Amino acid sequence: MDIRNHFPIFRDKIYLNSCSQGALSDEVRQSYSDYLRDWDEKGAPWEYWVERMEAARAAFAGLVNADSSEVAVTTSASAGVSTLASALDFTGERNEVVVSDFEFPTVAQIWHAQEVRGAKVVHVAAAGNSIPLSRFADAIDEHTAIVSITHVCFRNGAKLDIPAIVELAHSKGALVLLDSYQALGTMPIDVKKLNVDFLVGGVLKYLLASAGLAYLYVRKELLSTLNPTTAGWFSQANIFAMDIYHNTPSPSARRFESGTPPVPNTYAAVAGIKLVQSVGVENIERKIADLTGAIKEGVMQRGFNLASPVDPAKHGAMITVRSHKVDLLVKWLERDGIITSSRDNNLRISPHFYNDQHDVDCLIDALSKYKDLLV
Ligand SMILES: Cc1ncc(COP(=O)(O)O)c(C=O)c1O
Repeated sequence: MDIRNHFPIFRDKIYLNSCSQGALSDEVRQSYSDYLRDWDEKGAPWEYWVERMEAARAAFAGLVNADSSEVAVTTSASAGVSTLASALDFTGERNEVVVSDFEFPTVAQIWHAQEVRGAKVVHVAAAGNSIPLSRFADAIDEHTAIVSITHVCFRNGAKLDIPAIVELAHSKGALVLLDSYQALGTMPIDVKKLNVDFLVGGVLKYLLASAGLAYLYVRKELLSTLNPTTAGWFSQANIFAMDIYHNTPSPSARRFESGTPPVPNTYAAVAGIKLVQSVGVENIERKIADLTGAIKEGVMQRGFNLASPVDPAKHGAMITVRSHKVDLLVKWLERDGIITSSRDNNLRISPHFYNDQHDVDCLIDALSKYKDLLV
């Protein structure tokens, strides 16, 4: 059976908005029924829910080549970054946080929130749709505590040169947090090969599940050095200890968790990640490369302007096109059954493995129809 048939939205829509939320599959829909079935059958099965959390943790660990003990299951990427930030000390000489101009706002906002704790946020400015490595080299020094970078930019689809930035940061003794939300599920991601210290991302987009579940990877060697000031019963060494007199954090990355887990979403996360892995991240990367290549070609042939880099090595699964009335463009495309989204003045087109050339052709025809809205 064609994998596209697993996604009912394609019966009457062309869905090109996986950077906002992945299309709903039969498998993820079924996972929510399973949750309701278990609720009916088991009542309030706390032990079973812990098992489900572990399944969600293991699914992500397998996806990024981490050990399960290095993965915290959180309710959002923001929750993961906030709890990590709470564990860093900004009172000494190493009090700077280097962030790029391509960050999702939540990440930069969380680092700015640490200013009351002594942190100084250093912004690395973009030069159009790229950020020259030399700008990171200028910003990172022996005062840098952590370099917090996005894998793929949510505004324009640009991909940063992660290996080079990681090497720079580590050469100065700084830690690296990678926000892979816009990359997870679109390409192979191996935390060991990338050599990052921390990685965050959620399941809402290319991992095909729903809002309310995200992950924080923490390199094993760092776990015992990090004591978050956020806590809760699910961050304890023994969740069921019910000890009111002490905070005894788990030795694993569970120490970055807090309260009652997002149980329904763990079902969906496992189903979404499984589906992605059944297609294969290498296959997905190839398919997305073909589709983004065809989108860029169509856009350039018609003389429209890309906001994304043209070089395939420099962008992720999202291609962006400049518009001077982007809200109207998104609305008119939606009226034609083509679902996209926007940020700034950029139309965001974000294919996944379930899209095909016909989707791209329809999109390019529609853009031609609305060319007056394009720059
Ligand atoms: C790159 C990136 N990081 C973080 C987020 C938001 O994460 P959360 O809402 O789970 O905190 C998004 C959401 O669009 C994103 O694109």
